[in-house]
Amino acid sequence: MAEACPAGATIGALLCEGGAVLRAAGVEEARREARLLVGLALARDAGSLNDAAREAVSEEQAARFRALLRRRAAREPFAYIAGRRGFWTLELAVTPAVLVPRPETETLLEAALALRPDRASVHRIVDLGTGSGALLLAALSEYPAAIGLGIDRSPAALEVAHRNAAATGFAARTLFALGDWSSTLAPGSVDLLLCNPPYVPSGEIASLAPEVRDYEPRAALDGGPDGLAAYRAILPDLPRILALGGLAILEVGAGQAEAVAVLGSTSGLVLREMRQDLGGIARSLAFGVAEKGVGAPPTTD
Ligand SMILES: C[S@@+](CC[C@H](N)C(=O)[O-])C[C@H]1O[C@@H](n2cnc3c(N)ncnc32)[C@H](O)[C@@H]1O
Repeated sequence: MAEACPAGATIGALLCEGGAVLRAAGVEEARREARLLVGLALARDAGSLNDAAREAVSEEQAARFRALLRRRAAREPFAYIAGRRGFWTLELAVTPAVLVPRPETETLLEAALALRPDRASVHRIVDLGTGSGALLLAALSEYPAAIGLGIDRSPAALEVAHRNAAATGFAARTLFALGDWSSTLAPGSVDLLLCNPPYVPSGEIASLAPEVRDYEPRAALDGGPDGLAAYRAILPDLPRILALGGLAILEVGAGQAEAVAVLGSTSGLVLREMRQDLGGIARSLAFGVAEKGVGAPPTTD
């Protein structure tokens, strides 16, 4: 039965209306999302709104809320509506040009910190398919002696990454370059490589949630017929670009870890670690090289 919302222009009425509209649109956790939208419209902390249900809102605030509500009911991701998303300890700008950074991607940073706990020992970090710059900037926040290079094939994504590097205070240690995976990197030039490539099998994209399917960049999702195309392109080049003792940590989709581990080993890599995310899914694979690399600074020419 439809919920009867309180009459009048109050925070409680907006929360109730938002919950009902989002529920009807098929949004999960409709009430929580409605609270986030009211918080955004009123520029208030969403966590405080349940206690402020009786507070009046102006016509302008109600109109602003309804404009945001229409977008979310059309299944636009909240992060694009808000224009920002938290990742690791950072608050990042996100636009439809970039994937919305996911909590499970933080598994790669946990792996890096576990395998390279000496924060002063990592000097050259590369993030392949940097998108918003999330992984690179979070890694730079943990490795104060490092410089970082983020590579992406999308110029629009690189603009967002640039903006995030400036806003988080890491611009002086960061370089971004347009490129096709690692093809422009010099031999032996990377101490720590991070990569969250597109890994959704092409045929499964149509069945993803509308927020992902209809709004996130296809180039950030589509991993080819079996989801593994990016790994086949990236892994064989890692023995060339990793420095002596270098480490490459890649995100994988659910059920892909074994296949990617095999691709790594046929590329001459040694699997150092497989790590699960908080949902218990094998999410990150860390590879090293058996042979000696050649030391050189990262380059994009
Ligand atoms: C899954 S998103 C990851 C974004 C970000 N690293 C994150 O974890 O939130 C993959 C990114 O790879 C980029 N990409 C796809 N193909 C590429 C290629 N051949 N070379 C470089 N980047 C590529 C996409 O533009 C997208 O930004």
